[in-house]
Amino acid sequence: MSAPGPLLRLRDVGKTYPGAVPVAALADIQLEVNPGEFTAVMGPSGSGKSTLLHILGCLDRPSRGEYHLSGRAVGSLGDADLAAVRNRHIGFVFQSFHLLPRLTALENVGQPLIYAGAGPAERRRRALAALDEVGLTARVHHRPPQLSGGERQRVAIARAIINRPAIILADEPTGNLDSRSGSEVMGMLFRLHRSGTTVILVTHNANLAEQAGRLIRMHDGRVVEDTGGARQ
Ligand SMILES: Nc1ncnc2c1ncn2[C@@H]1O[C@H](COP(=O)(O)OP(=O)(O)O)[C@@H](O)[C@H]1O
Ligand SMILES: [Mg+2]
Repeated sequence: MSAPGPLLRLRDVGKTYPGAVPVAALADIQLEVNPGEFTAVMGPSGSGKSTLLHILGCLDRPSRGEYHLSGRAVGSLGDADLAAVRNRHIGFVFQSFHLLPRLTALENVGQPLIYAGAGPAERRRRALAALDEVGLTARVHHRPPQLSGGERQRVAIARAIINRPAIILADEPTGNLDSRSGSEVMGMLFRLHRSGTTVILVTHNANLAEQAGRLIRMHDGRVVEDTGGARQ
């Protein structure tokens, strides 16, 4: 991840979801994100924010255009290679947490390490450390249904950071939380940013977006405003 130039670069990227009525979700996206930026993405529902994050997070592929992650073309990678890139470099935080309900917090957090090939002792040690970092040492054996929304999102953040990813992508991470839990989650994202992580945050909250160094606004699948790091 040490190549010079932008960490993330999209060129002429478009995404059309196939189907009886194909949906054009993204068009003509040009985007460069430098290491260490904190970018907020805003826009009305359906404007393509999640689709953009899924492509940046290697959860999905563009239909058109190029995606370079740290100088490497990832748009054309096969499923296994794409999953490996995602697991190693990217942490994802979703609005609805996406935890496995039958696994404990500890097991959920250690999950990405299974794909990374770590043994049980290492998984446990690192998952405990990540849960400690988000202040959940007292909840490691709880399962998601036994946790509050704020606690679930902190488990999800611990899972997202366990591989020390260079990039955290957060898709409305406070959307299902009360304001206090939301502030805690945001505090963690800002702390990760201060320690060098590149963060991209989708939010409907203008106050949160205001705290980001850069703001991107989307409308109908296009970027209609990009402060381009001018606020950094
Ligand atoms: N898996 C999918 N299949 C078909 N259409 C989709 C899919 N995901 C999203 N869309 C459509 O793509 C457009 C952009 O959606 P999305 O990226 O989720 O927007 P946002 O996150 O800004 O609300 C919407 O019209 C949505 O209905
Ligand atoms: Mg969305």
